[in-house]
Amino acid sequence: MSILRRLQPIGLPPAPPPATVPAETPPAPSAVPPDLPEAGPPRVAARPVPPPAPPVPRTAERPVRWDLVLQVIRKLAGDAEADVGHEGPAALLESVRRALDEVLAETGQVLSRHERDDLVRRCVHEISGYGPLQPLLDDDEVSEIMVNGPEQVWIERQGHLQRTPAAFRDQEHLLQTIQKIVSPLGRRIDESSPMVDARLPDGSRVNAVIPPLAVHGAALTIRKFSRNPLGIDDLVARGTLVPEMAMLLRASVAARLNVVVSGGTGSGKTTTLNVLSSFIGEDERVVTIEDAAELRLQQPHVVSLESRPANAEGRGRVSIRDLVINALRMRPDRIVVGEVRGGEALDMLQAMNTGHDGSLTTAHANSPRELLYRLETMVLMAGADLPSRAIREQIASAVDLIVQQSRLRDGSRRITHITEVVGMEGETVSLQDIFVFEQQGMEEHQRVKGRFRSTGVVPSFLPRLEAQGQRLPTDLFWSPGGSES
Ligand SMILES: Nc1ncnc2c1ncn2[C@@H]1O[C@H](COP(=O)(O)OP(=O)(O)OP(=O)(O)O)[C@@H](O)[C@H]1O
Ligand SMILES: [Mg+2]
Repeated sequence: MSILRRLQPIGLPPAPPPATVPAETPPAPSAVPPDLPEAGPPRVAARPVPPPAPPVPRTAERPVRWDLVLQVIRKLAGDAEADVGHEGPAALLESVRRALDEVLAETGQVLSRHERDDLVRRCVHEISGYGPLQPLLDDDEVSEIMVNGPEQVWIERQGHLQRTPAAFRDQEHLLQTIQKIVSPLGRRIDESSPMVDARLPDGSRVNAVIPPLAVHGAALTIRKFSRNPLGIDDLVARGTLVPEMAMLLRASVAARLNVVVSGGTGSGKTTTLNVLSSFIGEDERVVTIEDAAELRLQQPHVVSLESRPANAEGRGRVSIRDLVINALRMRPDRIVVGEVRGGEALDMLQAMNTGHDGSLTTAHANSPRELLYRLETMVLMAGADLPSRAIREQIASAVDLIVQQSRLRDGSRRITHITEVVGMEGETVSLQDIFVFEQQGMEEHQRVKGRFRSTGVVPSFLPRLEAQGQRLPTDLFWSPGGSES
């Protein structure tokens, strides 16, 4: 009954909101045939990214009968015998059907079979799910859901942002749905604390901001937790990188190089970090540190730590930095930090420089060079009173490899650079690209055309890889070829 209580409408809406349909979208077309490689190493074979799914039609659909949805919920809430909210899915469906039939009979209304099924589904989603978001949460092709006020629900599907016909009844309905997400976690969202991070029971990451901070109505963002995390073969198949790059990354992680994955928001940093982590040996003790546990390591010996925000009284915060410092006392073979954003960068660099090699992390930057500036700024945020040159030296000796990732205009994610941090040259940290993605314009279906290319530079850490038993084919680096993508 408690779920229903939370769903109790504040009042019936005066008129149905604008046209909406259940969020059903046509299946995406299958992938187009692979590209032909240009002259270059035959092993390089980037697969294409599927073309964009057609947009959801938003035309003349029937208005949602929220009035009926609310009457059904009220009827069920008032039914002393029904244990709605606690019964199984089949029993709930039956109760909702019965209640809807009663409401229709009482009010003398007739609905088509399609309308009736649609209403039953909406009622079930209201009672046992997250209302209009539920079909999107159930759709595995949807990777992100973004709600901008009650009438705008956007999704990312196969890398493409699109608006859906889904909508909430009104602002109150949207706020109730947000409350439903955050309250089981003991979090609260209201005018005095209008911003919250939370997670759905399946692990999906949720952020909500409500008025007055969100000016045009509550904003809700859900990064869905993929049921099947991508592996290295998936990244190659999606054209994120080519097999040569995968070989280098596998050998580098196995040989305990320190790697930073750099990229913009949503560029796939965490996904790539998870893939890199899969190259860590089974016999190593790994400590992972994140704000919200997203990594899914398959190794048997993993300790996952999660930071914690301050409670309502402003106490009890445990930061990523606290956890990094603590992790060093846990005898880790590897430390994997979901993302460095602040002072923890200093502790991470120090760890990398003091025997915790093979550490992996991500950071927000748009190029390998910018990543160096960002790291420098983050070290300053730690309050360390170090001269610039000393910080740069720390960075240069700690970080071995930068994997730069981008979300391109067509929604595809590419590793645009694999770059070695070579050392210091005067006051500057010197970098050399080993693999790059060269964009060559756009082609049909708004797909980005480009190719991955080795630069001809042989990484100076090659002897380190070999000393660790990681032999790479000698032609991996000097080939002038590339592959279309
Ligand atoms: N290589 C890839 N190809 C296609 N889609 C990808 C790829 N990597 C990640 N994605 C998708 O992109 C979305 C963002 O991925 P991810 O969480 O890894 O990005 P991020 O850079 O860590 O984001 P944030 O900046 O929010 O932490 C996810 O929905 C994921 O499924
Ligand atoms: Mg991330």
